Amino acid sequence: MTIMNPKRILQGSTRLRSLPARAFLVLTVVASLAWSLGFQFMQSAHAASYCQVSYTVTNQWPGGFGASITVQNTGTAAWTSWSLTFAFPASGQSVTQGWNGTFTQSGQNVTVTNTSYNGNVAANGSVNPGFNGAWSGSNPVPTSFSVNGNVCGGTSATPTPTTAPNTPTPGTTPTVGTTPTPTPTTGPVTPTATPTPGTHVDNPFAGAKWYVNPDWASEVTTAASSVGGTLGAQMTKVASYSTAVWLDRIAAVTGGSGVTRTLAGHLDAAVSQATGSQPVVITIVIYDLPNRDCAALASNGELTVANNGLANYKTEYIDPIANILSQSKYSNLRIAAIVEPDSLPNLVTNLSMSKCSEANSSGAYVQGIQYALNKLHAISNVYNYIDIAHSGWLGWDSNFQPAVNLITSTVKGTTAGVNSVDGFISNTANYTPTTEPFMTANQQINGQPVRSANFYQWNQYIDEASYDTAMRNAFITAGFPSSIGMLIDTSRNGWGGSGPQGSRPTAASTSTDLNTFVNQSKIDRRVHRGNWCNQYGGIGARPTASPAAGFDAYVWIKPPGESDGASQAISNDEGKGFDQMCDPTYHGSQQANGGNLTEAIPNAPLAGHWFEAAFEILVQNAYPAIS
Ligand code: BGC
Repeated sequence: MTIMNPKRILQGSTRLRSLPARAFLVLTVVASLAWSLGFQFMQSAHAASYCQVSYTVTNQWPGGFGASITVQNTGTAAWTSWSLTFAFPASGQSVTQGWNGTFTQSGQNVTVTNTSYNGNVAANGSVNPGFNGAWSGSNPVPTSFSVNGNVCGGTSATPTPTTAPNTPTPGTTPTVGTTPTPTPTTGPVTPTATPTPGTHVDNPFAGAKWYVNPDWASEVTTAASSVGGTLGAQMTKVASYSTAVWLDRIAAVTGGSGVTRTLAGHLDAAVSQATGSQPVVITIVIYDLPNRDCAALASNGELTVANNGLANYKTEYIDPIANILSQSKYSNLRIAAIVEPDSLPNLVTNLSMSKCSEANSSGAYVQGIQYALNKLHAISNVYNYIDIAHSGWLGWDSNFQPAVNLITSTVKGTTAGVNSVDGFISNTANYTPTTEPFMTANQQINGQPVRSANFYQWNQYIDEASYDTAMRNAFITAGFPSSIGMLIDTSRNGWGGSGPQGSRPTAASTSTDLNTFVNQSKIDRRVHRGNWCNQYGGIGARPTASPAAGFDAYVWIKPPGESDGASQAISNDEGKGFDQMCDPTYHGSQQANGGNLTEAIPNAPLAGHWFEAAFEILVQNAYPAIS
C-alpha cells in the first residue's frame, strides 16, 4: 500500500489559483445546457467497408475531459494491428493519458496504435481505447477518423448517448449561475422486511451479522491475555469485531504454505456464524494483480506483468475465487469484495514509476479488474466495491476527475457496465480521518482557507466523509446509478489518545495564524498526509452499517495489528519488498512526505504479519475509546 504522487502538490496549488471554483460552476451549467439543447458530445461515423468509430466525451471539467473511443472493424477481414488517426478541431486540445492504445500527438493530429494485447480485431469486433485530455477555450469533438489509412466516413450515424454529462434532474430547468440539482442522495438503508436469502440487496451490510475472522480474533485474544490488565481487557473486546479477509496470494484462496485457512474455510466459518435467518456478510479483499503495489515495495506481490501475470491472475486466482464463491452452500452469505486497493489510483498519479507504467501500458490493471468484476458480478450474492484511494491522494482537482474517468471507463468496459459494482471504498489500510471535527476545508483563517495550509497543500478535501460524498456525486454524474454506496475503512483512523505528535485536540485552535490553527485543530496527528506505514493512529469508528446518507458502511478492511510493511529488509517468499517509508529513521522525499520522518512504528514485521506493538498502540489510541 502506498500514497505517492510526484506531481500532486504543484498541480494542486496551481490549479486552484488559475481556476476559481466559480469557473467550474459556470462550465458545469454550460455543459448541462448544451446537453439539454441537443449538442452532441459524441461523434460517430462509419463506412460499411472498413471501420466505424464512435468518440464519446464521457466527462468534462474546467480544462480537462475524459473520452472513450469505440473502433469497430466493419469489414470482412480481421485486423492484426490497427492505427487510428483523427485531428482535434481546436489547438488547445491534447491527450494527457491514454489506455487500451498507445497515444501520440503531433500538433492537433492524434495517432492511436494497438497495444500488445489488442492488435487482433475480428470482423465485426471492436476495441475500446480511451484517454484523459486537456482543453482550453472549447472542446469540440473530432469529425473524421481513419483506421489503417481508411477513412471511417460515409453514413453519419445519429449517436445515442449512454451518459449525458451533468444531466439536469428531470423537471428542472437549469439557469446560468445555478448548479444543476444532483441526483438525490439515497438515505441510510434500513430494510423494512428481511429479503429472501441470496437476493442481491442494495446494501449488503444493512441488517446482516458481520463475519468475525477466527484467526485474527485468536491473534488478538492471545495477545490480550499476555498483556492483561485494562489494556488486555480492551484488546479482548476488539476481537469481537469484523475484519476483512485478504486474498493476498493464490495460496490464500486455495491453500499452501503459511496459510491457516483457505477462502472456502472462511466461507464455511461464516456459514457457521449464522444465527436464525439473519444473513451473514463477509468481506474479502481481491489483492493479487500483477505488478501489485506498483509505486512502493512493501506489498509487492507474487505476479508480474513480465512473467505472464495477467493470464495467471485470471486462471489461477480469479477463476478459483469465482468457483468457490458460486457454490450453492454459500448462497445465503452476502459477500462484499473490495477490488484491488491502490491499483487504478496508481495509474492516475504514479505512471512515472516503471512498474506502474508497465501495469498501464500492458492493460494488466484495467483488464485484470474488468475480468474480476465480470466473474464476481455474475454471482448474485457478491457485491463489488472499487477502491478510490483516499482524500490525501486523489483529492486535488488534477487527480480527482482523472481518477473518476479511469475508474468509470474501466467499469463501463465490463459486461454489465456500471451495474457490475455496488459502490466504492476509500481509506483502505490508510489513516485519514472520517471527519475533521474542528474545521472545514474552506473555512477562512485570517483570510486564507484551511485547505491552503501546509498540511493540506490546497487539497479540496481534509477528510474522507467530504471526499467520498464528492466522489459519489461525480460517479453518479458519470453514469452510475444512485444506488451506489460508499465504504470507509475506519480500522485505524480514530486518532484518539496520544502519539509522538501529541494528543488529540478537543476543540478548534484559537490561533489566527493559518498553519498554527490547522496543526492545533487537526485530529490527524501525522506530520504529513503522505506517511502511510505503521502510524501511531488509533482504532476508529466501529464497523457500522448505513452510517450516513450515501454510505453503505464503515468497515475494518485492514485488520488492526497487521503490519503495513517491514521496517527493514526481511527475506520472504511472498514477493514483499522493503519500503523505506516503513523505516522510522528515514526522511522521505519531498514528493512522498515533504522530506519528514516517516513516523513509522519501529521493529515492524512484513506487511500483513501480526505486529503486536502496533496493535497495542491502536487500541490505546482508539477513538471512540474501547469500552
Ligand atoms: C499486505 C497483505 C495483507 C494485508 C492485510 C497488506 O499490506 O500486503 O499481505 O494481507 O495488508 O494485513
